[in-house]
Amino acid sequence: MCGIVGYIGNKQAKDVILDGLKRLEYRGYDSAGISLFNMRQQIFDVYKDQGRVDKLAKSVLKSPRSNIGIGHTRWATHGKVNKENAHPHYSHSRRFILVHNGVIENYKQLKEQYLSGVTFLSETDTEVIAQLIETFSNTLNIENAILTTLRLLRGSYALLILDQQNPDLVYAAKYKSPLLVGRGKEGITVASDLMALIGYSEEYLPLDDKTFVVASRDNLKLFDINHKSLVPNFTKIDMTNGDVERGEYAHFMIKEIHEQPSVIRRIVTNYFDKDQSLINNQILKDIKGSDRIYILAAGTSMHAGLIGKNLFEKLASIPVEVHIASEFAYQQPLLSEKPFFILVSQSGETADLRACLVNIKDQNYKVLTITNVATSTLAREANYFLELYAGPEIAVASTKAYVAQIAILALVAYELSKKTFSIREELTKVALSIEKFLSDENMRYLTRNLLTHRNCFFIGRGLDYYVGLEAALKLKEISYIQTEGFAAGELKHGTIALIEEGTPVIAMISNPRISHNTRSNLNEVLARGARAIRIVMSNVAEEDDEVIIDEVHELLTPMAMVVPTQLISYYAALERSYDIDKPRNLAKSVTVE
Ligand code: G6P
Repeated sequence: MCGIVGYIGNKQAKDVILDGLKRLEYRGYDSAGISLFNMRQQIFDVYKDQGRVDKLAKSVLKSPRSNIGIGHTRWATHGKVNKENAHPHYSHSRRFILVHNGVIENYKQLKEQYLSGVTFLSETDTEVIAQLIETFSNTLNIENAILTTLRLLRGSYALLILDQQNPDLVYAAKYKSPLLVGRGKEGITVASDLMALIGYSEEYLPLDDKTFVVASRDNLKLFDINHKSLVPNFTKIDMTNGDVERGEYAHFMIKEIHEQPSVIRRIVTNYFDKDQSLINNQILKDIKGSDRIYILAAGTSMHAGLIGKNLFEKLASIPVEVHIASEFAYQQPLLSEKPFFILVSQSGETADLRACLVNIKDQNYKVLTITNVATSTLAREANYFLELYAGPEIAVASTKAYVAQIAILALVAYELSKKTFSIREELTKVALSIEKFLSDENMRYLTRNLLTHRNCFFIGRGLDYYVGLEAALKLKEISYIQTEGFAAGELKHGTIALIEEGTPVIAMISNPRISHNTRSNLNEVLARGARAIRIVMSNVAEEDDEVIIDEVHELLTPMAMVVPTQLISYYAALERSYDIDKPRNLAKSVTVE
């Protein structure tokens, strides 16, 4: 979704901002814009249009040198995708220029109440903020004009503001939408995502809700919404450019698929001190004191949650319900007496989940967030937080985060179990199994021959069914093939009507107890003309099975079984020459409900 980058310092602002915006492209967007200071004319210029950051970069190729600026990538919510609605937006006299992430829910009321007679240039909710600041600046100084405006806004915002009359300052404010300040020897960068700060800042400060920042070339002032000074508390950035670049790989997605063994090993290293688990004991105590776990998540993370359910129920004998966040937020089911909540989210910013978190906290229940982003809203607002340590996941289609989420859920469930095996050893075996499989290059050939149809099915039973759901999501996300993940035994109760000559069906088979059932279901579709691939674990493999994965612990099979399906999706999109890392209509971090 929308991305924000602002800069003030000694460097060329457009270089820092464009580089930052490119790093945020993975989040999904439809327009891009930037405002830079024009020394000769002593004004801020605005360049913006629909389309990619590369196009924006061309339009500012000859712009004069500027050491200050703000930039934005827009994912349309209010108003069409066009130049007028792209950010930055001006106030009516053009004195104030701003970029905004988030949604202003009461923008229509504010327009009517304070801005009658003002001509608006766009259809966006954002413009109302610029117009209000200008209106209040007639009677108040700039800081108070901004703060007065902020106090009126309902919804969410991460804002960067420039003032033509104070061209050596960047103003920033945050409420619900993420915003971080980065500080380095060469200046101050403010961005909606840590990725945009890497390489430019040595330390960062994730802003709390309702904070207001005034940044100059060499100084930073931090206030709360009542204009009370706050002391900034910066943290060192421990990521390098290598973590956020593709390197030798053609796409981030394939890089991230290949990183999975090392992610699992990193998790094992980071969560253990010798044999001692480093998971906060209070988390375990709270879960033990509960009578039911509720796992809430969206998309791929929800699919990881389903695997988590099996882990907690089998290892720790605690019943678990898994819910789609956007449903749970407004249709809370009847809860057990002592619920414990686990939010699973790669980004830690998914707005549907935040809506759940607010409700849960209102009811005084305990929440653990499992996420990849330590500075994220969901990490900071939950009672507890466990980090995925997957490293930045840049491809929109989630791969390594899914595997990492299962690993963390397994670690927590294991700590609550009788510990009849070593989870460290079993996770290490998973890493080895994936590594061995990834060295086999057969998947591209298999995919090319199979996925020629407009639809596809993944079938499986038990955990394989859950993996099938994730596999289907991945394939449709990036190849646009209509795909369904189906419980193998349920197919014959209706959906088998869709099987025709050549329909691809991918069977997932890992559990010896039920493998023959899945094979029977596969035979049913083969008899009706389907073309199949079998992805099987070595302990249940039969002659002619196409894809065989080395056996891993029965509760961890999804971590390994998912990998061939990730490759199937990747190669299907590659064959079709689609934009693999930035599929159409999707955003990496969905910060609107
Ligand atoms: C978006 C992404 C999905 C992701 C989902 C949940 O829809 O496109 O890939 O699974 O959000 O995101 P989260 O960051 O909460 O895991």
